[in-house]
Amino acid sequence: MANPSLLILAGDGIGPEVMNEVKRIIDWFGAKRDLTFDVSEDLVGGAAYDKHGVPLHDDTMAKAQSVDAVLLGAVGGPKYDDLDFSVKPERGLLRLRKEMDLFANLRPAQCFDALADFSSLKRDIVAGLDIMIVRELTSGVYFGEPRGIHMEDNLRVGINTQRYTEAEIERGARAAFDLAMKRGKKLCSMEKANVMESGILWRDVVTEVHRDYPEVELSHMYADNGAMQLVRAPKQFDVIYTDNLFGDILSDCAAMLTGSLGMLPSASLGLPMANGRPKAMYEPVHGSAPDITGQGKANPIACILSFAMALRYSFDQGAEADRLEAAIEKVLADGARTADLMGPEGGTPLSTTQMGDVILSALDESL
Ligand code: IPM
Ligand code: MG
Repeated sequence: MANPSLLILAGDGIGPEVMNEVKRIIDWFGAKRDLTFDVSEDLVGGAAYDKHGVPLHDDTMAKAQSVDAVLLGAVGGPKYDDLDFSVKPERGLLRLRKEMDLFANLRPAQCFDALADFSSLKRDIVAGLDIMIVRELTSGVYFGEPRGIHMEDNLRVGINTQRYTEAEIERGARAAFDLAMKRGKKLCSMEKANVMESGILWRDVVTEVHRDYPEVELSHMYADNGAMQLVRAPKQFDVIYTDNLFGDILSDCAAMLTGSLGMLPSASLGLPMANGRPKAMYEPVHGSAPDITGQGKANPIACILSFAMALRYSFDQGAEADRLEAAIEKVLADGARTADLMGPEGGTPLSTTQMGDVILSALDESL
């Protein structure tokens, strides 16, 4: 059988730096676990704009549609702030999500024990935290029409539209319930049914889908209360299902509970392809971090954990994903820290590559 194919879109800022470490991990699996991927690389975001004048070339879009999984680094940077909205780096990422129809965005927030003291919350509130946010990723206010800025009575008016069909709510809900079945069998759905009709529909549809998952305990929460509960008592949650915009905000909030945004991976999954694998893109939750770009300071763990999610969700290699996650847990327990993980006690942080080195050694030890 042909090797599974991966398209790497490292993107901008620290994207290429953290992706370099992922490439070394991919090579390790080829050399030591007989798990070889056909890897190709291309441009996205500002890097694509610099070369092609667009943040995602049509050829790159076509490649992304044809591979088994896409690994994305990060997009954006101050250099591109003044570009026309239609060619901003972020549009490249949003096009990938939309055209690949990656409707289920899985954002796990797990607190590694070694990092519990780095959280802005007290250790006992976050230690052992393991929640999964499922964010609807291809609809809602990110894509709704009408949108734009126009003139009305000599005043500029900005419009975006929150729009959800019941089918869109339902398929994401099924993904969330399926995950809940494999985890703690608890699902909390978040919307603003108190002020938004789309929220009322959201609550109705999730309640209907629940009939097919009687074992899962379902609750509903207004998203603002959800934000409050996430910082008050995050361990009350198992799986959270929410819309595109609330999911964007709540997942940043959940990420920070774990100590550093540099730790959080994500998977964006769509419908199954002909080979049975879901359309998929994996990316760290953090952005391009222009403030530290090119300094070798970036934490590669979020990007490496995103590859672990690819092993699990695209390639049915749960045991190898466990191996990679355990290697990361081990180096953290042994005290390996990049700059974002330095506590008040100080010390010398590892560079991006040095963090890659220790993870590779831990992988070797796992054999
Ligand atoms: C995210 C990011 C993106 C989003 C940006 C870069 C377009 O914040 O993946 O959370 O808003 O979805
Ligand atoms: Mg975000």
